[in-house]
Amino acid sequence: MLGAILLLLALTNAVHTKGKSSDPCDAELVLDPRPHSVSITEFGAVGDGKVDNTLAFQNAVFYLKSFADKGGAQLYVPAGRWLTGSFNLTSHLTLFLGKGAVILGSHDLTLWETVDPLPSYGRGIDVPGRRYRSLINGYMLRDVVITGDNGTIDGQGSMWWDQLTNGSLKYSRPHLIEFMSSNYVIVSNLTLLNPSAYSIHPVYCSDVHVHNISITAPEESPHTDGIVLDSSDNVCVKDSAIVVGYDSIALKSGWDEYGITFNRSTSDVCIRRVDLMSYSGSAIAFGSEMSGGISNIRVEQVNIHASSRGIELRTTRGRGGFIKDIIATDVVMEDVGTAFSATGQWGSHPDDDFDWNALPIVENITLRNISGTNIGTAGKFTGIPESPFTSICLSCIQLSMSYAYSAPWTCSDVLGSSSLVFPEPCLELTSPSSCISGPRSAGKSAAS
Ligand SMILES: *[C@@H]1O[C@H](CO)[C@@H](O)[C@H](O)[C@H]1NC(C)=O
Ligand SMILES: *[C@@H]1O[C@H](CO)[C@@H](O)[C@H](O)[C@H]1NC(C)=O
Ligand SMILES: *[C@@H]1O[C@H](CO)[C@@H](O)[C@H](O)[C@H]1NC(C)=O
Ligand SMILES: *[C@@H]1O[C@H](CO)[C@@H](O)[C@H](O)[C@H]1NC(C)=O
Ligand SMILES: *[C@@H]1O[C@H](CO)[C@@H](O)[C@H](O)[C@H]1NC(C)=O
Ligand SMILES: *[C@@H]1O[C@H](CO)[C@@H](O)[C@H](O)[C@H]1NC(C)=O
Ligand SMILES: *[C@@H]1O[C@H](CO)[C@@H](O)[C@H](O)[C@H]1NC(C)=O
Ligand SMILES: *[C@@H]1O[C@H](CO)[C@@H](O)[C@H](O)[C@H]1NC(C)=O
Repeated sequence: MLGAILLLLALTNAVHTKGKSSDPCDAELVLDPRPHSVSITEFGAVGDGKVDNTLAFQNAVFYLKSFADKGGAQLYVPAGRWLTGSFNLTSHLTLFLGKGAVILGSHDLTLWETVDPLPSYGRGIDVPGRRYRSLINGYMLRDVVITGDNGTIDGQGSMWWDQLTNGSLKYSRPHLIEFMSSNYVIVSNLTLLNPSAYSIHPVYCSDVHVHNISITAPEESPHTDGIVLDSSDNVCVKDSAIVVGYDSIALKSGWDEYGITFNRSTSDVCIRRVDLMSYSGSAIAFGSEMSGGISNIRVEQVNIHASSRGIELRTTRGRGGFIKDIIATDVVMEDVGTAFSATGQWGSHPDDDFDWNALPIVENITLRNISGTNIGTAGKFTGIPESPFTSICLSCIQLSMSYAYSAPWTCSDVLGSSSLVFPEPCLELTSPSSCISGPRSAGKSAAS
């Protein structure tokens, strides 16, 4: 009997979904307990905030690899301040940070190996060439959980922010948590602080759930992002609060010719019940690296405050790819510079080999039931003349502006329709029948 149970455990993931659902946040996520658990202290770790524990984490994970075919295992981190450099996770592992446990990113550069740039980017995002390995890494894994009883991961990013700002950064910054080419991943019940660059970065992943996470970076931290979903599908992000220097949640899929060749989109994503604040970026950003495409994204029940921009689509010539089939509904904004932005003139290229004729497509974007107070600019839509943005559908939008005298909307090379939108949008967004699926009644989706 016991043998049969163990065999069953060996054949299944602790992380799996019950039933089929087209909405990744509706799929019921089942999390079975791991049959084995060890504490990081058993590997000689010292939680005084001073001793380097990189080897302890690496050795613990190496030891726990042997439980992969026995239902997996848990690595427990008790209360304490656990300083460490970069380390890897393994399949069928739960990293559990107990109450009062804080993992601290080390400032000792000798603990940070460099790795090749992501194939879909061709170079590092900060500087050309290689990049530092992230603090916590998963590569080609399956069934991995990082969770806890409100444990904390503090990237202590100030050193990296200074290096980026003063031009001494040799390789692109590490992220706090990165999963590459992995499936069935959960990150939950944690506090993340001071990311060096991104806080959570799933890239080339499927079936990723991020919930009940708090992420905080200070206002002056340059280009710190919350969750960056990159060439990944079937992702749910919910019940989380994010305050960062740049984008709170970004969806990406590769950069120009590298992303076009790699050709992996970010699709089938749901973002639900999140509270966002982005000092100098966007609360929800699509792109600008989107060369593998971004499609079928649902954003709902979002609060956005004190942010430079609310919902933003970014692309440029040379990107190729697409941003399409996006719905954002039930959003409340307060103190936002620009509520909506869609630009076809964003940012730089990885190198000079990009194809000027690789035109991105932006279409079928629905913004519905959105209210805002103290908004600077309602919308700025500047498409690409050779590839205008189409089927931009606005409905039930009510924004109260901070300056009565400024033009609330700017539009060029964009086509869409609107109903019940205040302030009155530009002519380009009031064409009567340009929505592919037609206007919907609030709350109900059209049957098509
Ligand atoms: C971490 O994983 C990478 C593969 O992604 C490997 O090259 C590296 O050696 C691993 N590091 C350790 C300490 O196991
Ligand atoms: C969120 O996580 C905290 C611990 O970080 C826990 O106390 C709380 O119950 C969780 N809430 C939900 C809804 O899971
Ligand atoms: C979680 O921990 C952070 C500090 O790491 C604290 O500020 C926050 O209040 C805690 N949240 C909960 C729900 O315990
Ligand atoms: C840049 O910042 C880093 C990290 O704080 C520091 O070690 C370095 O000396 C600074 N370099 C310059 C040129 O200011
Ligand atoms: C998060 O915390 C809540 C409340 O304690 C718990 O029900 C849930 O199972 C936790 N999630 C994970 C993945 O541990
Ligand atoms: C990219 O992949 C899609 C299928 O995922 C395929 O239809 C398309 O032709 C591919 N594009 C290129 C340029 O290879
Ligand atoms: C437009 O996007 C929505 C949301 O993803 C999708 O349900 C709908 O089918 C799309 N319409 C067309 C014509 O593709
Ligand atoms: C519109 O959004 C608000 C805020 O999320 C929500 O309370 C309300 O129920 C939504 N209205 C409809 C008709 O869906």
